[in-house]
Amino acid sequence: MPAGQRVSLSVWHLFGGSNGPDPVTLHLRGEFVESNLGATEGPAGSVTVRMIAQQFVFVPQCIVVPAGVPITFRITSADAVHQLSFLGTNYGLKAVPGAVTEATFTFAKAGEFKIPCQEFCGAGHYAMRGHLDVVPRGQFASPRKADL
Ligand code: CUA
Repeated sequence: MPAGQRVSLSVWHLFGGSNGPDPVTLHLRGEFVESNLGATEGPAGSVTVRMIAQQFVFVPQCIVVPAGVPITFRITSADAVHQLSFLGTNYGLKAVPGAVTEATFTFAKAGEFKIPCQEFCGAGHYAMRGHLDVVPRGQFASPRKADL
């Protein structure tokens, strides 16, 4: 990863931010408030996962999604640049402060995937890992359904 891709929060603020979510108020308002994080099932069975990466955890730490369904991940960062990877797959996703990164992945089979951070993000980087639990489609029950 070229060092130039790293964004510091102070630099981000210096340049007036972007149209994306403000890293400082992420938890307080907008798409990434705590009650909106994790997996949400849409009207047609589509699933969206919203996550925050921050030093040195992913929020939520554990995510449950159904197998065989396209899962749209939307992620941002509260501080440094982080890089998620779903261990054992080619799937990965970068979390950048002030921006939302979106990608859609389908996990064909049920299984458990560790989500280590792959971008050096500070002292706790090596301990920063989340967990993805892919369950058979019939066993997936979203705690929340989208209001759409
Ligand atoms: Cu987050 Cu390394």
